[in-house]
Amino acid sequence: MLTAAPLALELRNVHKRFGQTDIIRGTSLAVASGERVALIGPNGAGKSTLFNLISGRCAPSSGQIWLNGQRIDGKKPFDIHRLGLARSFQITHLFSGLSVLDNLRCAVLWSLGYRYSFWRFLANLHDANARARQVMEQIGLDTRQGVLAAHLTYAEQRALEIGVSIAGNAPVILLDEPTAGMGRSETTRFVQLIKEVTAGRTLLMVEHDMGVVFGLADKIAVLVYGQIIAFDTPDKVRANPRVQEAYLGCAVADAQAQTQVQAQTQVQAQDKDY
Ligand SMILES: Nc1ncnc2c1ncn2[C@@H]1O[C@H](COP(=O)(O)OP(=O)(O)O)[C@@H](O)[C@H]1O
Ligand SMILES: [Mg+2]
Repeated sequence: MLTAAPLALELRNVHKRFGQTDIIRGTSLAVASGERVALIGPNGAGKSTLFNLISGRCAPSSGQIWLNGQRIDGKKPFDIHRLGLARSFQITHLFSGLSVLDNLRCAVLWSLGYRYSFWRFLANLHDANARARQVMEQIGLDTRQGVLAAHLTYAEQRALEIGVSIAGNAPVILLDEPTAGMGRSETTRFVQLIKEVTAGRTLLMVEHDMGVVFGLADKIAVLVYGQIIAFDTPDKVRANPRVQEAYLGCAVADAQAQTQVQAQTQVQAQDKDY
């Protein structure tokens, strides 16, 4: 009999309550190995909280989380990382006083667990350097290797952050709003970068930009008020009336409102010029 490969990531009826408030209200999700999943939903739906639960920053109030067939809910972030999960943060999370190369070296060494043994650290140093350089090339920052993270452009910092996330070769990657704050052309380049560096891995990504979501995701999970109301291919999610009502409708309305604000701002700016 064939035994199915374990799911890369599985949430079983996960709940999270902060004080009196239920933020995650019975979320279940099954992500197959190698799948790219976008998690979308209105602000405050609980997307970052869900990431915090998966990566071990906080423990669920109830329910189970499984990573590659191993139960991880309640474990510490470092142990979950060692079991094969890496995450990036919505807010940039780099060592600003270290160079590009050193940020990547730290990420590789940290994922090798060097903190446990100085001798292992020395033995791994050569491999770690090679891996750090390889990642630096992949993210297109090889010409910026000595530049301090603080002195990189915003888009370069985000690229470095992706590099830090993949440096340890974790098979499952969580990215929280990787293209936030980027312009259109940077975003397009970034989508390509994410595709390349996550090839063959499992990706769960929070993303607001619908262009990125539909360009990158094999499946979309829609989280509304702490519950997943749809989990399907992009075409099916787009056509799902519940999703349109609960979320995509607002996203379109938001985009229209933003365009109006931009138009007004431009008019005001022109008024000022004259
Ligand atoms: N540590 C916390 N303590 C209390 N409330 C929290 C905490 N983290 C998140 N929340 C609340 O949970 C809700 C969901 O937040 P979040 O997961 O950041 O949403 P999203 O990422 O979807 O915008 C918000 O109402 C937020 O205020
Ligand atoms: Mg968030």
